[in-house]
Amino acid sequence: MSSTDYNSDTLNDMTPEPAGARRVVVLISGSGSNLQALIDAQQHDHLGGEVVAVISNEPDAFGLKRAHEAGIEAVVLPHREYDSRDAYDGALIKVIERHEPDLIVLAGFMRILTPRFVQRFLGKMLNIHPSLLPAYQGLNTHARALTDGVSHHGCSVHFVTEELDGGPVVLQAELSVASDDTVETLKEKVHAREHLIYPIAVRWFLEGRLQYTAEGATMDGHPLPPQGMRLSHEDAAEELDEDVEAN
Ligand code: GRF
Repeated sequence: MSSTDYNSDTLNDMTPEPAGARRVVVLISGSGSNLQALIDAQQHDHLGGEVVAVISNEPDAFGLKRAHEAGIEAVVLPHREYDSRDAYDGALIKVIERHEPDLIVLAGFMRILTPRFVQRFLGKMLNIHPSLLPAYQGLNTHARALTDGVSHHGCSVHFVTEELDGGPVVLQAELSVASDDTVETLKEKVHAREHLIYPIAVRWFLEGRLQYTAEGATMDGHPLPPQGMRLSHEDAAEELDEDVEAN
């Protein structure tokens, strides 16, 4: 190896893993029920790391209260105080970097991210979306699924890339749609599935099992299929003690 090869990346590769817990920063805008699922998993030692900060762009987000109650630093960074999306994302990058996260978790963070922001954290940012991606990217997923009369719906955890709701999918949980389902019942059942799979995906990432590559997501070094791993309706319903007969 010539001295010119001896760059800081090489040094980083040679540095032993730090003994401290893996650090997670969670971004929210609202209720934060997924944040709560992560906090609960952490409190049961199932997260594989620690939520070190919660950042909200909405000052009234209920998730901030959840963070306070769990003794986690809660930061409000209101987007309305910035002139442009780029200025906001620049400020957000600074706040996030202060916490030296291993992973950034989007949990109902209702902002479109700039390419600069996404590139800064590419490969270490996960999102959860209320549909079986690539179906129903964007908003109002439950209503659109009902209108289409689909038999299956659900949620997806995916790596965040510049394409909105378009990054490599890691894990999905499926839901059989019942004839009497409404937007509200779908929302509730999908939420329960989100709370089931998000802490699992976060743990896999923090354990180093789940990785982002330019070709897609890998698990234990093996490429995942485009729709990631999938928890069936039956398995999810059993985990959640749902009445499978009802569907
Ligand atoms: C969830 O439905 C998630 O899929 C979407 O935003 C919602 C956040 O809910 N990205 P909560 O704030 O975690 O309760």
